[in-house]
Amino acid sequence: MYPSSFFNAFETSAVERLLADYNLPLHIYFTARFRCNTEKFQSVLARHYPRSQICFAVKANPCIGAIRVAQAAGLGVDVVSQYELRAALKTQIPGWQIICNGNAKTNDYIDLAVKSGACIAADSESELKLIDESAGRQNRKAQVLLRIAGMPLAGLTSADQSTASEWTKFGIPASQISSIFDRVRAMRNIEILGLSAHIGTQICRPAGYEHLLEHLLAQLSDLIKNGMNLRVLDIGGGYPLNYLSEAEWTRFKSRLRLQLAGRLPTAEWVTWNGLPMGYEHLKNPQIEETSDWLGKAYWSPQPGAAILEHILTYVLSDGTMVKERLKQLGEPLLIVEPGRALIGSTGITLARAIGVKEVLGCPVVILDLGVVNHGTVLISPDIYPVEVYPPKPNDAAIEAFIAGRLCFTGDMLSKVKIPLNRLPARGEVVILHQTGAYCADHFASNSCGFPRPAKIAIDEHNAIEIWRKAETFEDVFN
Ligand SMILES: Cc1ncc(COP(=O)(O)O)c(C=O)c1O
Repeated sequence: MYPSSFFNAFETSAVERLLADYNLPLHIYFTARFRCNTEKFQSVLARHYPRSQICFAVKANPCIGAIRVAQAAGLGVDVVSQYELRAALKTQIPGWQIICNGNAKTNDYIDLAVKSGACIAADSESELKLIDESAGRQNRKAQVLLRIAGMPLAGLTSADQSTASEWTKFGIPASQISSIFDRVRAMRNIEILGLSAHIGTQICRPAGYEHLLEHLLAQLSDLIKNGMNLRVLDIGGGYPLNYLSEAEWTRFKSRLRLQLAGRLPTAEWVTWNGLPMGYEHLKNPQIEETSDWLGKAYWSPQPGAAILEHILTYVLSDGTMVKERLKQLGEPLLIVEPGRALIGSTGITLARAIGVKEVLGCPVVILDLGVVNHGTVLISPDIYPVEVYPPKPNDAAIEAFIAGRLCFTGDMLSKVKIPLNRLPARGEVVILHQTGAYCADHFASNSCGFPRPAKIAIDEHNAIEIWRKAETFEDVFN
């Protein structure tokens, strides 16, 4: 987790420049990394299944700047709201390269999706009716995918981010799909192009995608046999980013097990308030001592595009490789919707240290940044690499929890004790790495009267683009 390895000389000099010109906290995105991440996905698809389309999940960093970078790399987009759709259209992404997701689509969102020729991932039967009516009013044919859920896919990521298992508000239960098809035939203004699913985010275990593909391809095959002309399969996002090295992840897990077994003094605990994280299930005596981590993980043997390659070359239970099976099914257009894996590693967040305290023998670094500007810690305790900047020759590594500035105890930027190169002095700059996805916006608010920080992008030619201005007193209080 020693972060200097995350940084190259160009990025270091860019940070120096930005520190001179901008107030902290500040979110910075290195756009060259986006292209590099995208090329890995493009290369996997070119080798294994060229009939494909990558749609960047805008929710990972919802702003025009990020959409523009995705468009320049030749991507379409996945959007989940009327405004995300408007931003995509404003950036000249053509309708056929846009997937409209969301479980609570408003009439305005549906109308615009139909009007722009975007492909709508329908979330329920009642929504299909609304889409049909909207298309009828506009004298158009709506392009639709049926979003499937209700599959045995729990435990792959945090329960709150698991989106295709039985307990989810998203999609249509797989068991209802064929009966819905019978009724959809009567809807004259809808064209069902195929199926879609999205199983969650930061899916570190390839088994999740293996189960998904077994289900989706069996379903697609049955529907095609029953005469449906289906030619699109959207397998969603979720491709993981490695926040730690394998050694760090393994070491963290083994220390957490010692902690949970009561074999570490509190000062050596590795999680805040004794959180069991992915070992919560070990409290159940029926589960074997040896059973491994469940839920959201922070290292994957196959991060990003590597897991997509695994999916396409996975051998299904009938002995056919996924990519071959797709060809047998008439070579449908394969859509993937990565967010985190494309933009997560492009971002860093800079904040000033306010101070350091000790809680129950553990060092706690306090930053002038809140959990509403960082990560998805409110959903599950994320792990991000952190360093005190600039590194100094006499740095001595030390582990600490990281606390935020908001008025509730849960405002911990890291509920995992993470290594720092040193404890920061008040006013020193602290860099949180890998913050490009979900951090700046997912929970952004003016909690406690703090303004939302700026988002700045910097390209390989050193050109700076402001993706979002920092809010002012007037923005927050007028
Ligand atoms: C429908 C859909 N597609 C794609 C994504 C992107 O997921 P990730 O950023 O994990 O790739 C999400 C995220 O929640 C989503 O809801």
